[in-house]
Amino acid sequence: MTATIIDGKQMAEDIRGEVAVGVKALVATGVVPGLAAVLVGDDPASAIYVRNKRRACEEAGLFSETFELAATTTQEELLALVAKLNADERFHGILVQLPLPPQISERTVILALDPDKDVDGLHPLNVGLLLQGEPRFVPATPAGVQEMLVRSGNDPSGKSVVVVGRSNIVGKPLAALLMQKAKGANATVTVCHTGTADIGAVTRQADIVVAAMGRPRAITADMVRDGAVVIDVGINRIDDASRKSGTRLVGDVDFDGVSEKASAISPVPGGVGPMTIAMLLKNTLLAAQRAAGIQEAST
Ligand code: GUN
Repeated sequence: MTATIIDGKQMAEDIRGEVAVGVKALVATGVVPGLAAVLVGDDPASAIYVRNKRRACEEAGLFSETFELAATTTQEELLALVAKLNADERFHGILVQLPLPPQISERTVILALDPDKDVDGLHPLNVGLLLQGEPRFVPATPAGVQEMLVRSGNDPSGKSVVVVGRSNIVGKPLAALLMQKAKGANATVTVCHTGTADIGAVTRQADIVVAAMGRPRAITADMVRDGAVVIDVGINRIDDASRKSGTRLVGDVDFDGVSEKASAISPVPGGVGPMTIAMLLKNTLLAAQRAAGIQEAST
């Protein structure tokens, strides 16, 4: 079987267009949705993510400002900025790009965020709401994976989904999201991780495999059953002497091998990455709608 490619770039463009419609309606009531992005240090990948997020905000009509802090920033300095942004009514959403430098506790910073502005869905209150089936802000990457499955005609309802990876930002919230008795969910979810004795034995049983463990091309064709749907969350930079830059991006899935066995597969780049940005914009619109007293997202 040769897999259909799930075009995350096109889907994300569609979602950003839908968000832009909601933004326009809100702006007409006098509220401009705003996102504050905080970037600490000079990790090149993080700088690119934040730049792409800001661009996408501008294109969809959201107000966005990036706060760039030095790698030597202390935890107190970052907490002071978060407090300022929590109180700033121009910003309905705050995103602190992770990872943070080692002198700063990510957990302490996440706890300091106003949960009503936590559009990344990482504050324990939002994590708990998601787990209990009352999501407010679903973390953008898991939300993007769910949206990709539904929009590509692979609704996870009734399916067996295996998530490989248990990070707080992807694996755990994705498992919580897809197991809910809700639209676009209702799946039987299994989570594999470094403690799993034989990951392939588990993934071979799956209707849908989501690779989110951060290991380049670790999911190989022999680990996937014929006709499975494969979503690749990984973004890994590997050496490639044939490229001018000397490097290239690959996912956590061995795309060439797996795409001959799967029925559908998301590529890297052009898969989950653009969807994450689109869902962040959607969450920011939702935050602004909530702040304006509009309960239901119009997108
Ligand atoms: N670093 C990698 N992915 C993410 C994300 O979705 N949100 C934040 N804040 N940092 C990240």
